[in-house]
This record gives sequence, C-alpha cells and structure tokens, in this order.
Amino acid sequence: NNYVIIMAGGIGSRFWPFSRQRYPKQFQDILGVGKTMIQQTVERFEEVCPLSNVYVVTSVEYYDLVKEQLPFLEDEQILLEPNRKNTAPCIAYACYKIAAKNPQANIVVSPADHVIMNVQEFRNTLNYVLDETKERDILVTLGIRPSRPDTGYGYIQVNDEADTSIGKLKPVKTFTEKPNYELAVSFITSGDFVWNAGIFIWNAQAIIKKFDELLPDIAAPFNEMRDKFYTDKEQEALKMAYYQCRSISIDYGIMEYADNVYVMRSDFGWSDLGTWKSLYEQAEKNRDENVLQGNIMTYETRETVVKTPQDKLVIVQGLQDYIVAEYDNVLLICQKDQEQRIKQFVSDVKEEK
Ligand code: GDD
Ligand code: MG
Repeated sequence: NNYVIIMAGGIGSRFWPFSRQRYPKQFQDILGVGKTMIQQTVERFEEVCPLSNVYVVTSVEYYDLVKEQLPFLEDEQILLEPNRKNTAPCIAYACYKIAAKNPQANIVVSPADHVIMNVQEFRNTLNYVLDETKERDILVTLGIRPSRPDTGYGYIQVNDEADTSIGKLKPVKTFTEKPNYELAVSFITSGDFVWNAGIFIWNAQAIIKKFDELLPDIAAPFNEMRDKFYTDKEQEALKMAYYQCRSISIDYGIMEYADNVYVMRSDFGWSDLGTWKSLYEQAEKNRDENVLQGNIMTYETRETVVKTPQDKLVIVQGLQDYIVAEYDNVLLICQKDQEQRIKQFVSDVKEEK
C-alpha cells in the first residue's frame, strides 16, 4: 500500500541562470554526478515502494522532460497540473487521485530537488515512519537538526518530553513556516527546533480529512471530481478544479494549523539544493575550496563556485567568495554572500523569468 508522490513543478528561481522556467533545476544535473535531481529522487525510493506506485506531479509544460528522464513511468503516473498553484493543490490532486484507486494508500510526499547523502538511512527512516502512519490519523514530517538561522525553511518546535509520543515520532508544539531572521535566530538559540525537511508521510485518509477541515475550498473541487479520475474526463475536470484553487503551500495551509502533526528527528545528510550556497556546501571542493564544474583554470582564487559550459575554457584570477555561472545566453558573476539578490536580477530580466 506504499506510494510516493514527487513534487516537481517548481521553478527554482534562486538558482538562476541554471534553473529557469523552461528547464528547472529538478531536471538538471546540478551537482555534476551524472544524473538529474529527479532521477536521483526516484532512485532513492527503491525499497520504499514499487516503481509502479511512484507518482510525479508537475506542470503540463514539463511532460516531455519527465518522459525523457523517467521513461519507465506510465502516463498514469505522471500527473500534469494545468497551472502552478504551489504545493497544497499539488498534494491534494495526487492524494485524492491515489485514494480513489486505493483508499488504504500510505503515502510519502517528497520534493524533487533535495540532496540526501545516506540513502540507506533515508530508506530505513521512511520505512519506519510508514509503518507508524499506516493505521493512524497523523501527519508526519521529517526534522533536520538546523545548522544556521536560514529563513528559507519551516521550523518545528519538538515536544520531546510528551507522553503522547508514538515510538520515535514526537508531537509538534509549533510549526513556523519561513520565519523572519530574528525569529530564526531565536529558534536556533533555543535548541528545541528542527528544520522541516519538506518530506511528509501520512495515509490517504488522514490527509484528506485535514484538507476537508483546514482547506475546504481546495478539498471541494477534488472531492467533486472523484469519479473522473482515471477517465478521459480527468484533464478537463482538473482544469476546472485548478481554476478554483488558490495558490498556497501545504506548510502555510495545513502544517502550521493541524493538531496531529508529528516529527521524526532524522539524520541522513540532507540539503535542499535551493541556492548557490547550498550547492557550494554540498559539492566536491578542490584544495583552494573552490567548486569547479566545467573546463576551468583558477589562479589566486578561493571559495568560489564556477559552473560553465564544458566547451568553453574559463580562466579565473583573483576571485574570493564568488559565483561565476554561465548557462545558455546568460553569464552571472555575483558575490556569494549576495546571492539572495538573484531573485531580483531575474525579475529585472524581463523576458527570462
Ligand atoms: N507540482 C508542483 N506544483 N510542484 C511544486 C509546485 C507546484 O505548484 N510548487 C513547488 N513545487 C515543488 C518544488 O519543485 C519542490 O520540489 C517542492 O515542491 C517544494 O517547493 P519549494 O518551493 O522548493 O519549497 P521551499 O523549499 O520554499 O519550502 C519547503 O521546503 C523546505 C525544505 O526544503 C517547505 O516545506 C519548508 O517548510 C521546508 O523547510
Ligand atoms: Mg525547496
């Protein structure tokens, strides 16, 4: 009864110029390991559920990319969204659709753009949690020990002492999605907070119940189209459903408010490859602490990421702490600690958002 839903419809604009609307990062080999992020993601779930129970949810415009990179998936396993409405509608669509086929489904929801170092530990963790969620009315998320006051993550306050623990699953006291910097600092100092890894585990009935309760406006159109799933009327009905849905993430829509959220403290070497800095941290560095991907020579250069096309010889002298990235018709040279400004550069570049 185990299923996996892979969310792969985001644009990843903080990773510009590599990640962009027509070719987002989940379909690229960002780390230079020979496989794209979504290919690595799917492989990771071997031993968690059969390949035939893996569903990818993405925008219609990426259908060809999914087919090309994951040719073993049947069309029925590729869920195509007519619009981008963030993760709540994406999760609702996939969970209602899977539940229509198998009401007992036990589901892992995963992003398509994370790096996991210890895959075996990751699988063990999921199998443990799946065993606990299959017959319980709970929502579980994986918690990661935070290493810095990053404002791009959700923070979970764990109630370690509670007698309502379920084995290794601890009840959640508070869930704060993307706090401001001061709040993030206070969370880190306090010590009883973990990062939300954005990987969720629940059975189909438990999450459907929460949609009905907390996001009834999103639940309604999917409840209504129940008998259209797996028919030739699905795509048409889906357009209507998405038209009615507002855009909201699962974190703001459900995780912050649900009263039955549990966290599994996890340690399998996790990183959301959301920014250049996270790539810098994850990728292999040479002895000058540079990450070099391409045909590159460096002199007096340190702690710099250079990612450029293989057919271009690039020579860098005298840079410290920079990002140099060339992709397609764009060359970006930016101080590493100013990377949060990339979003602004992208919006200033009118046609290529
Ligand atoms: N299908 C689909 N449709 N997928 C989407 C959509 C959409 O409209 N929007 C986002 N996604 C996918 C992204 O491609 C990514 O794989 C995943 O959903 C999560 O979206 P992000 O946009 O990357 O979320 P985030 O990183 O800002 O925040 C989430 O993840 C953090 C950990 O990485 C939250 O869950 C945070 O609480 C969490 O800490
Ligand atoms: Mg992310």
